[in-house]
Amino acid sequence: MIQATLHQLRVFQTVASHGSFTKAAEELFITQPTVSSQMKQLTQTVGMPLFEQIGKQLHLTDVGRELLATCQEVFEQLDRFEMIVADIKGTKQGRLRLAVVTTAKYFVPRILGYFCQEHPLVDVALEVTNHQNITRRMWENQDDLYILSQPPEDILLCNEYLMDNPLVLVANKNHPLAGKRNIPIKSLNNEAFIMREKGSGTRQAVQQLFGKHKVAVKVRLELGSNEAIKQAIAGGLGISVLSEHTLYSQELELTTLDVKGFPIQRKWYVSYLEGKQLSVVAQAFLEYLHEHTQKNGVTSRLAS
Ligand code: PGA
Repeated sequence: MIQATLHQLRVFQTVASHGSFTKAAEELFITQPTVSSQMKQLTQTVGMPLFEQIGKQLHLTDVGRELLATCQEVFEQLDRFEMIVADIKGTKQGRLRLAVVTTAKYFVPRILGYFCQEHPLVDVALEVTNHQNITRRMWENQDDLYILSQPPEDILLCNEYLMDNPLVLVANKNHPLAGKRNIPIKSLNNEAFIMREKGSGTRQAVQQLFGKHKVAVKVRLELGSNEAIKQAIAGGLGISVLSEHTLYSQELELTTLDVKGFPIQRKWYVSYLEGKQLSVVAQAFLEYLHEHTQKNGVTSRLAS
C-alpha cells in the first residue's frame, strides 16, 4: 500500500461516497478517464477488486469497504495534524463535521454562524437528519460531534447536557381544546394526529407516552418535516407533537394544548464517540456550544 498515493485514496473515497466515477470526477474537477486510471492503479496495488458493478450500480467489495474505513482514518489524522499546526500558529482552521437532529436546526446554525465569524478559517459540514440516521452516522464514525435528544445506549458515547428540549402538543388556534386547562390525556383518543416519520426521535417519544397512557390517536398523515407539520396543523389537518424549539411566537394560527403528560421533558445533548480524539476545531466548538446554550437557552414559545 506504500505505493498508493494520497490522491488515489482521495479519488477512491469520493467514488465510494457517490457510487459513481462520473460524479467523483465532477466533484474533484478531473476527467472521468483520470478517475478510471487512478482506480485501476489503486486496484492493482491492493491486488483485489475494490468495486463491483451490479446493473448500473457500483458497490464496494469487502476489501473496498475496509479501504474506505482506512481512508477515513488517514484523512482524519491529516486534518487533525493541519489543525494542530494552525493552532500552534494561533488560528483555528480546518473542517468541523456536525450532524444534528431535525429540531436542532432551529438553534445550531445560529451558534455555528457566530462561531465561524470568530474563526473564519473553519469550514463546516452540517448534516441535519432524523434520530435513526444520526445513529447510523455514529456507527460509521462520520462526524466530530452530534446534537440530539436521546443518545443511543448501544454506542459508547460521551454525552454532555446542553439544555432542555420540551416536546409540546400543538394544535390549530380554533381547536375545541384550545385555551382549556389541565386536559386529561385520554381526551386525545381519536384525535386526528400528524405523526413524524419512522426513525424520528420525536415520534418515538410520542409513541412511548401514548402507549403508557393507552391513548389511540388517528394518524392522518406522516410527515418528515417539522415545518410541514406546522403548515398541516394550520391547515386544520390535525394536532401534533413538536419540540418547543420549532415554534415561533408569531405563528398566529397555532397554539399549544395544556394536556396532562405534556410537555414531554427531553434534553439536548452534544455527543461524540468515546475514545475519539476531538480535533482542535471540534473541541473549540464544543466549548462554544456550552457557553452559548447556557447563556441564551431558547425562548421562542407560542402563547397557549
Ligand atoms: P427527530 O429528533 O428529528 O428524529 O424527531 C428529535 C429528537 O430526537 O428529539
